[in-house]
Amino acid sequence: MSGIADVSGHTLAQLVSLAGRSCVVTGGARGLGKAIAQRLLEAGANVLIADLEDAVGEAAAAELSGRFDGTCLYRHTDVTDPDAVTALGDHAAQQFGRVDVWVNNAGIFPFVPLEQMDADTWDRVMAVNTRGVMLGAREAARHMTAGGGAIINIASTAGFRGVSPGLSAYVASKHAVRGLTRQLALELAPHAIRVLGVAPTYCVTEGNLLAAQEMGGTKVTGADIAAMVSTPLGRVGVPDDVARAVLFCASDMAMFMTGSTLLVDAGETC
Ligand SMILES: NC(=O)c1ccc[n+]([C@@H]2O[C@H](COP(=O)([O-])OP(=O)(O)OC[C@H]3O[C@@H](n4cnc5c(N)ncnc54)[C@H](O)[C@@H]3O)[C@@H](O)[C@H]2O)c1
Repeated sequence: MSGIADVSGHTLAQLVSLAGRSCVVTGGARGLGKAIAQRLLEAGANVLIADLEDAVGEAAAAELSGRFDGTCLYRHTDVTDPDAVTALGDHAAQQFGRVDVWVNNAGIFPFVPLEQMDADTWDRVMAVNTRGVMLGAREAARHMTAGGGAIINIASTAGFRGVSPGLSAYVASKHAVRGLTRQLALELAPHAIRVLGVAPTYCVTEGNLLAAQEMGGTKVTGADIAAMVSTPLGRVGVPDDVARAVLFCASDMAMFMTGSTLLVDAGETC
């Protein structure tokens, strides 16, 4: 093995560019995933969005394809289903000729206090948030073995510490994502496949607004959340705060990085 490429002679524009590269983003129909897909497309990549929400996913792919030179496609995929995730990787390779970047973003965060936690809820959170990450990484690696690539796992500040009551399964699952990121980085390094985690704090997304609405029983807006959430840097997170960090990890800017999970939390975990 000769090691990962030395890109120190490349210009900044070359380092940030994903021109000619092919990316998969799970859970990309909305929220953080859609913002990530958008930045990857802006950097020149083609992107395959995977999700359960077909109408939303198709609309996102059509919207993003219309705004950038690259192609954005959608494919229905349950990230907990091994066959579906295999088919997702094969579809990306068929459509774009290669797979260079795989973002394991799909995740769920049901609020269930421990006294009410049942085994099915626990297993579902683990299936989406951890098994889904393993399956995605496995399929990504299958396609990247020849030419290298980057796998980015969306963790959370909840992978560094406990958070609100009711999130025990979520917190456990995101700690597991950090562990998996470290282990897979070692396993895949010989193939020049980098594995990185990105750990956001609370960001206003459709999923979070729905969760807040379910808990409170009334409609909640992004402005309501912004008024409630404070961070050391003074504002609540928005999806693009996370998408820019994912683009950095996916690009050659992060060529010498693997195994770490980057906090994107406005200083909240300091
Ligand atoms: N928004 C935040 O505050 C925040 C903070 C830290 C971490 N995260 C993580 O970021 C990721 C995205 O969160 P979000 O806020 O954008 O959520 P969201 O609910 O707005 O979007 C998640 C998307 O994943 C899809 N999805 C869910 N289960 C799936 C499955 N089994 N297969 C395929 N797709 C599935 C949903 O349909 C949805 O489109 C999650 O992993 C979440 O844990 C979010």
